[in-house]
Amino acid sequence: MGDSAKISVNDSEYEYGVHSGSCGPDVVDIRKLYSETGLFTFDPGFKSTASCESGLTYIDGGQGILLHRGYPIEQLAEQSSFMEVAYLLLNGELPSSKEFADFERTITLHTMVHEQLKELYRGFRRDAHPMAIMCGVVGALSAFYHDSTDITDPEQRMIASHRMIAKMPTIAAMAYKYAIGQPFLYPDNDLSYTGNFLRMTFGVPAEEYELDPVIEKAMDRIFILHADHEQNASTSTVRLAGSSGANPFACIASGIACLWGPAHGGANEAALNMLREIGTPDRIGEYIDRAKDKEDPFRLMGFGHRVYKNFDPRAKVMKETATDVLNTLGVDDPIFDVARELEQIALNDEYFIEKKLYPNVDFYSGVILSAIGFPTTMFTVLFAIARTVGWVAQWNEMISDPDQTIGRPRQLYTGPEQRDYVPVGSR
Ligand code: CMC
Repeated sequence: MGDSAKISVNDSEYEYGVHSGSCGPDVVDIRKLYSETGLFTFDPGFKSTASCESGLTYIDGGQGILLHRGYPIEQLAEQSSFMEVAYLLLNGELPSSKEFADFERTITLHTMVHEQLKELYRGFRRDAHPMAIMCGVVGALSAFYHDSTDITDPEQRMIASHRMIAKMPTIAAMAYKYAIGQPFLYPDNDLSYTGNFLRMTFGVPAEEYELDPVIEKAMDRIFILHADHEQNASTSTVRLAGSSGANPFACIASGIACLWGPAHGGANEAALNMLREIGTPDRIGEYIDRAKDKEDPFRLMGFGHRVYKNFDPRAKVMKETATDVLNTLGVDDPIFDVARELEQIALNDEYFIEKKLYPNVDFYSGVILSAIGFPTTMFTVLFAIARTVGWVAQWNEMISDPDQTIGRPRQLYTGPEQRDYVPVGSR
């Protein structure tokens, strides 16, 4: 592509600049399109729209590449830790040993939540979905931490970000404990970020909690795989909410609400429920047929992705992790057999090949999380813990961008044209 793009409207021609990023498609800068031509662009679902400039995450959907600040996800999952990835996403570079120790310490010092926050949980029914609790409680943080809400101050923004990353596991574990009627556990600052979360979730005050290093590593890897994913629906929601200058905690709550949907973060829960429903490999054919049937709204959950049209690099790592965890725990779960066979059948089926539908990150994550002991309702909550890192990093990037302005899309209006109001007696 050249360095400009031309558009003809009636007899006039307009020229727009084309910008190149460091990788990926060039973009046509149409910011002046409306003022010059009176036209809007129409792109529901933003399939062809770059909504912002960002230096955090790069995805090449065709080649199955995912980079955070340039580093491939496979290398990060293999060699790094979730805390280090959090530092990387927030600060742009991998930390030195000293920077990392300071960062870990800072996060650790923010893991407790305000004691009064506990009272909020009592307002929920015991059978409330933990994502409903997460939306409410994280939104409520905005009422507790007034000293970190001046978004024009970079230091306060960073404190709010550290607070959210640190408190999310505590809030999530409390949501779980509340549902099962066990006491909340305070964080233990001698443990790692992930170890602490596992203890707060599965430990009880009456006993010492024994942390299994394989499970801790697997959980940490799952967090890495979900840490950020460019301008996905929940991240775009956080950016849009933040673009009005809204309270940072409230912005993250909006991301949680978006993530909950089954087409996004709710897919891991839906994928495991689907595998359980299929139950045995001999029933897979029936479900493949349903997924292909235009009259049936059923979709194979954990398959397909808006951006990845070759393979999801996160799914590969997730499958390996699933094998590790199931072997370590000695779990012989028939659901894993169903998953493996379903994957093979779908990958060789013309419908899925033609539509470029591959297993995504959520296809195997449910199998692992279930083996570790999480109920399906907690799956999306775990995604939210990890994605908080991406959300706060993207939010920080947006607020510090001098070109930042309120997000305000336009529309193709198809409602009635102007008409006069008719009093009720005359209708
Ligand atoms: N099973 C069966 N058919 C499918 C599936 C599926 N999982 N996904 C897409 N298709 C078909 C769809 O019916 C459509 O067919 P046609 O062209 O004949 O109308 C075609 O493939 C394109 O689908 P689309 O909905 O236009 O594609 P999209 O890029 O807008 O949707 C998606 C992406 C992830 C929403 C979709 O693939 C889906 O609903 N997958 C299942 C839910 C899921 O696993 N979501 C997790 C995404 S990864 C985690 C995350 O990032 O949150």
